[in-house]
Amino acid sequence: MDKKTIEDIDVRGKKVLVRVDFNVPLSSKDPADDITVTDDTRIQAAMPTLTYLLDHGASLILCSHLGRPKSAADKQFAMDPVAEQLSRILGRPVQKLDEVVGDAVTAAAEVLQPGDVMLLENTRFEVGEKKNDPALAKALADLADVYVNDAFGSAHRAHASTEGVAHFIREKGAPAAAGYLLGKEIQALGGAVNNPTHPYVAIMGGAKISDKILVIDNLLEIADKILIGGGMANTFLKAQGHEIGKSLVENEALPEAKRLLEIGSDKLVLPVDVAAAVEFAADSAHQMVAVDQIPADSMALDIGPQTITLFKETLNGAKTVVWNGPMGVSEMPAFAIGTEGIGAYLADLVTAGAEVIIGGGDSAAAVKKLGLADKMSHVSTGGGASLELLEGKELPGIAALDDR
Ligand code: 3PG
Repeated sequence: MDKKTIEDIDVRGKKVLVRVDFNVPLSSKDPADDITVTDDTRIQAAMPTLTYLLDHGASLILCSHLGRPKSAADKQFAMDPVAEQLSRILGRPVQKLDEVVGDAVTAAAEVLQPGDVMLLENTRFEVGEKKNDPALAKALADLADVYVNDAFGSAHRAHASTEGVAHFIREKGAPAAAGYLLGKEIQALGGAVNNPTHPYVAIMGGAKISDKILVIDNLLEIADKILIGGGMANTFLKAQGHEIGKSLVENEALPEAKRLLEIGSDKLVLPVDVAAAVEFAADSAHQMVAVDQIPADSMALDIGPQTITLFKETLNGAKTVVWNGPMGVSEMPAFAIGTEGIGAYLADLVTAGAEVIIGGGDSAAAVKKLGLADKMSHVSTGGGASLELLEGKELPGIAALDDR
């Protein structure tokens, strides 16, 4: 990576402000409940950076957003459950502050000793966070001697704690460096964009094509084949002239789907059969039909067996694979068969020496549920951030860090 990393800077005796992405799922939306973290993957993913810094004599001021609160009044998004889980994982106390910046935070930061860990309140409780307000960014920078960004999942956001703060840290002559998670994500996803080994097959799925148009455009330049599954395949099938019954479709994206089919005719691989269900329900009656046989009263909820075979044949021998989005309604077991089949095949490809990278969000959740996460080369912690990287964009949270 061409950015400074934590190994390039001296952190001994320093107060290090670390922007992490602790935007984790919670057990309840009711602030009166005893809210707990239901999946701590993102907290675990920050551990290499946090333990490195602690082992090298730093004290930590951690900050993150959590959810999408409208204001500080949305107490269900307070960081307390995150602090508790973090303390359990680190095996040391975590001082949770009730503000992001202000006198109490400044006073607490001033007395930090090496090995101490504190966690600020949800950065989005400050209205300046999403506006990248310079006053908030400077107040955060004033707390610390060093800034480290390890929040890959938020690196596509130019917010005060992810982007603005780096400029104010630099202004006071202090370093702004990348953590291990950021480095690992850039190496995996950035490598798949900038320096992939061929044959290179991308797999795109999920409900909406509109989210993935830019990614497909960029991947058409670099990948050898792009497999299309999930709900988004329906829009392509309709653009090809197929009757798709009651299947989910984005009519407004049809012109884009037609354009992609034209420019990518030699690379795009679409389903040849689907699981056609009468209702959008886990126990719905369904049948496997060719894509030109979808009944008018049915909807495609998964790719069919012939498509699974076709996709596996296309993947055979691939050296790089990027997967973003499930092949069907994978939260319903009857319609998770495509996702399972492709997931299991990808695990075999990794064993055969391929680099298989799973984009964040739904695809990461799907491989985790299938028990395959450990079998992949890399499972990203970033949903939107991984998509933007695959679109070939520069992420502001990374761009703001010091160059090597
Ligand atoms: C994510 O979950 O993708 C990141 O934490 C970013 O969250 P956001 O989409 O609310 O900015």
